[in-house]
Amino acid sequence: MSTSPSRVAVFGAGYVGLVTGACFAELGHSVVVRDVIPERIAALQRSEVPIYEPGLEELIARNGERLHFTGDVGEAIDGADFVYIAVGTPPTYSGDADLSAVWTVIDELPAIDRRCVVVMKSTVPVGTGLKVRHRLDERGLNLVGYASNPEFTAEGTAVKDFLHPDRIVVGAFKDEDGDAVARLHAGIEAPVVRSDVASAEMIKLAANAALMTRISFINEIANVCEATGADVVRVAEGIGLDRRIGPSFLRAGIGFGGSCFPKDSLALKQLAANSGYHFQLLNAVIEVNELQKRRVIGKLHSHLGSLRNKRVALLGLAFKPHTDDMREAPSLVLAGRLLAEGADVIAWDPVVDGHDLHGVEIADAPEAAALGADAVVIVTEWPQLADVDWAAVGGTMRTRVLIDGRNMLDPAPLRAAGFTVEGIGRAADPGIA
Ligand SMILES: NC(=O)c1ccc[n+]([C@@H]2O[C@H](COP(=O)([O-])OP(=O)(O)OC[C@H]3O[C@@H](n4cnc5c(N)ncnc54)[C@H](O)[C@@H]3O)[C@@H](O)[C@H]2O)c1
Repeated sequence: MSTSPSRVAVFGAGYVGLVTGACFAELGHSVVVRDVIPERIAALQRSEVPIYEPGLEELIARNGERLHFTGDVGEAIDGADFVYIAVGTPPTYSGDADLSAVWTVIDELPAIDRRCVVVMKSTVPVGTGLKVRHRLDERGLNLVGYASNPEFTAEGTAVKDFLHPDRIVVGAFKDEDGDAVARLHAGIEAPVVRSDVASAEMIKLAANAALMTRISFINEIANVCEATGADVVRVAEGIGLDRRIGPSFLRAGIGFGGSCFPKDSLALKQLAANSGYHFQLLNAVIEVNELQKRRVIGKLHSHLGSLRNKRVALLGLAFKPHTDDMREAPSLVLAGRLLAEGADVIAWDPVVDGHDLHGVEIADAPEAAALGADAVVIVTEWPQLADVDWAAVGGTMRTRVLIDGRNMLDPAPLRAAGFTVEGIGRAADPGIA
C-alpha cells in the first residue's frame, strides 16, 4: 500500500490542504486535492493559487503533473492510498471546535473495498479520532485505517515548515497504518513521533497552547516593564539566551491572532471543561491576549486625548507578515475599537485587500496611510515598514506619534526625527512627560 510513490487524496484546498498536497507531490506522490468551493477548484485548475503563501505557487506549478484538483469526491478517492482531511475546524458559538466539515468528509466517502488510511490533518479535539473510527465502522468501511498526523506549519513559512519540520507526529490505532503514514513522508528528514491517536491529537493542541503561553507571558512581562521602566526587548534577549528557556516566541507585541491560536486555545479550554477540568492557565493566556490587543488604544489616548475625529493609520492588517490571513487578526479588534471611539481609520497592508473592512479607508502605501495622520500604529511587522523613510513621513503627519505594536523599529532615529514613539514594554520615550 505505502510503497513510494503513493496516491494521496487531500480534502480541503485551504492553507493546510494546498501546502500538504503540493508538498506530497514534491515528494513524488500523486495527489488529488478536493474542495467544495467550485470557484476555488476552477482557479487552481487554471494554475491560480487562491491564497498567499510564499513558495506555494512555484511548488504547485513545478509539480503540475502529479497534482490535480477536483470538486468530485469519487475522482479524489479513486485509487487513493491515503485520504487526508484538511478541512476547517472553526469555533462554534460555544468555543468548541466545529467538526461538521470533518463529518461531511467521512460521510461522503464512497464504499472502499481495499486498504487505505484516512489521515486527520485538521486540528481536532482529543477523542475525535475514536469517534471517526466508530463512524467508519458503522459505515462498513472496516478496511479503511485511521491515523492522526497533525500539522505544525506556520502560515508565511508553511512550505519550508512542511518539508523541513521539527518533527512528524503520527498517531494510529494500528501500527501498520502509522507505519504507512510515516513512510509517506520518506524524503523528509525529521524525527517521527509515534503515538496513540488521542496523544497525537493532544500534541497539536498542547504545542499551540505552549506557544500561546509564551506569548502571553512575555506580553505580561512587557506590561510590567512599562510600569517599572525596564525594556522588554533587552529582557527577552536576556532570558532567551538561557538554554532552558530559548529565544523563540518571546517577542512582546499586541497579541496573537490568526486562524489557529485563538480557536485552538478556545477548543482546548472547552475540551478540558467538557471533561470536567478547569484549565486555569489557559484561561489566563486567552484573557491576557484579549487585553493586550486593546492596550494600543490606551497608548493612543495618552498621547492624543480623545480619539474622536483623530486620524489613525494602521500599518499591516494580516495577523502576521507573509500571509493574507485575516482570521482573528488583532487589526480587526483595533479598527473596531478605534471606529467606536470616533477615530478616522486608514489602513495599509501589502497583500490584504481590506476593502471589505467596514468603515476603514485603505491606502496603497504606508506613506499614503500616514499622510495627515495624528498617529501611526504598526500592527503587523511587514519588512517593508523597515524601509520607510520615517523622517519624511513624519513631515506629512499632523502629529508625529508612532505606536510600534511589534517593537520592530529602532526608536532612537525616530525620536531624532521628532516622533513620539511608544513600543510595547519598552523604556518610556524621553519625550513623553
Ligand atoms: N492555517 C494554518 O496555518 C494551520 C496550521 C495547522 C493546522 N491547521 C488546521 O488545519 C485545518 C485547515 O485549516 P486551513 O487554515 O487550511 O482552513 P481553510 O479554511 O483555509 O481551508 C479549509 C478548506 O476546506 C474546504 N472544505 C470544507 N468542507 C469540505 C469538504 N467536505 N471536502 C473538501 N473540502 C472541504 C473549504 O472549502 C476550505 O477551502 C484546521 O483544522 C486548522 O486548525 C491550520
